[in-house]
Amino acid sequence: MSLPAEKEILRVRGLRKAFPGVLALDGVDFGLRPGEVHVLLGENGAGKSTLIKTLSGAHRPDAGTIEVDGREVEIRTAQDAERLGIATIYQEFNLVPEMTVAENLFLGRQPRRFGLLDRRAMNAAARDLLAKVGVQADPDDRMAGLGIARSQMVEIAKALSLDARVLIMDEPTAVLTTGEVDRLFGIVARLREQGVAVIFITHHLEEIPRIGDRVTVLRDGRSVAEVPADTPRDELVRLMVGRSIDQQYPRERTEAGPPLLQVKGLTRDGVFEDVSFEVRAGEVVGLAGLVGAGRTEVARAIFGADRPDRGEVIVDGRSLPPGDVHAAMEAGVGLVPEDRKGQGLVLGADVQENLGLVTLGRSSRGGLVDRAGQRADAGAIAGKLNVRMSGLRQEVRTLSGGNQQKVVIGKWLLADAKVLVLDEPTRGIDVGAKVEIYELINTLTASGHAVLMISSDLPEVLGMSDRVLVMARGRLAGELPAAEATQDAVMALAVAGPGGAGENDEENDDVH
Ligand SMILES: Nc1ncnc2c1ncn2[C@@H]1O[C@H](COP(=O)(O)OP(=O)(O)OP(=O)(O)O)[C@@H](O)[C@H]1O
Ligand SMILES: [Mg+2]
Repeated sequence: MSLPAEKEILRVRGLRKAFPGVLALDGVDFGLRPGEVHVLLGENGAGKSTLIKTLSGAHRPDAGTIEVDGREVEIRTAQDAERLGIATIYQEFNLVPEMTVAENLFLGRQPRRFGLLDRRAMNAAARDLLAKVGVQADPDDRMAGLGIARSQMVEIAKALSLDARVLIMDEPTAVLTTGEVDRLFGIVARLREQGVAVIFITHHLEEIPRIGDRVTVLRDGRSVAEVPADTPRDELVRLMVGRSIDQQYPRERTEAGPPLLQVKGLTRDGVFEDVSFEVRAGEVVGLAGLVGAGRTEVARAIFGADRPDRGEVIVDGRSLPPGDVHAAMEAGVGLVPEDRKGQGLVLGADVQENLGLVTLGRSSRGGLVDRAGQRADAGAIAGKLNVRMSGLRQEVRTLSGGNQQKVVIGKWLLADAKVLVLDEPTRGIDVGAKVEIYELINTLTASGHAVLMISSDLPEVLGMSDRVLVMARGRLAGELPAAEATQDAVMALAVAGPGGAGENDEENDDVH
């Protein structure tokens, strides 16, 4: 099966990289052939992002070699990588929110005329690129307003514009919807036909046989297996987490108690309208729908992060003042936001501080902050969620993507929020850790908490919810009990919208 080395476009041997307290890469071997899509698979913190950062010039390895076209190279900077034909789409976007889409696409290489920025040429080129990936955005739009899925598509457009021979994609599908994933896979298939080699990282195992040729599995910084992409899922899971997972969605239903969260006629003009539902103690209610349907916006309004124009949010019988995060938190509402970098975490603070963000005010003894208690609580929850870190003092910025997400969830688990609103909670989380989070959700509902779960991962919504609400175009399109909530039934509601019309093909409006 192994081809001669000269057939490889890229070869990595014995790569090592240590960070304070962690050996992120511990002798990784990895080869890439032209025209193949090579999937990197591994648990959160296994070393995937670190590996690709050594290829893109973001990290210098401590030991080991990198060869391109059979010749050893040193990749010290992003420019070195670019010269070698390596382009990278990072897990954390590298886009500048204050600049326009076109400026981001051509950052550092804007077309010039007579020494001046040729904005017209730049915008025209940007328009072509955006059309190529099929993203609805204007070159003059500011990045900040685009939302996470379209930002990802811009990041992809940017990497494509470099005409690379090696394209590295670190979890590009984590924030994309089904339609966008299909489009991306179409692009990747075309590139592969042109002989471009792709390194593809994903936690969505069902994507692997669709898009991949080979899979390299990383575990604790070591490459432990190289297998074909059609390897059965169970086998991939076993290679990755070292055990098999029998039950992907271990929902344990509890008898529903009184309504803890009631939403009545909630409206933000032009964003969502007349949304009413309730979540009872002990329930997990799923909120499904297409991106842009208004789910995140409803979640934010419940939490008080945005002020609704009309309607009411009632928690445990008490009406909340609109647009008041403090009041919502006091009343026991927690929100795990979809954008963990922007809203969920203080990146420069450490794990313990982040876990204690909500509880900080509470854990005082006689007016003094109870630091020992805080540390014990943080340690316990980090252990439960299996956060991979060098210690509670590690800066959250340097945690792996999935481990950052665990910290966001842990923060609210520690706060013991009665009503927990989870917006894409398992984004970027590996298959093993997902099950652990689902089990924690079971524990919460068993003790009378209420959970509202937004997720674009439909199997997850169906597998974990007791009832599923479906939103379409800013309205509730319907409700399905768990027994009737099939993929088809949910999609039918999500696409058709309230009243079931489906014809009305309005512009996919900008819901920010
Ligand atoms: N700059 C850094 N400083 C300190 N530790 C780091 C740094 N970057 C990564 N690490 C550590 O290296 C290990 C590997 O992280 P990496 O980001 O490569 O994981 P990953 O496989 O990409 O995980 P995920 O699936 O969660 O994205 C982790 O323990 C992480 O905390
Ligand atoms: Mg990563």
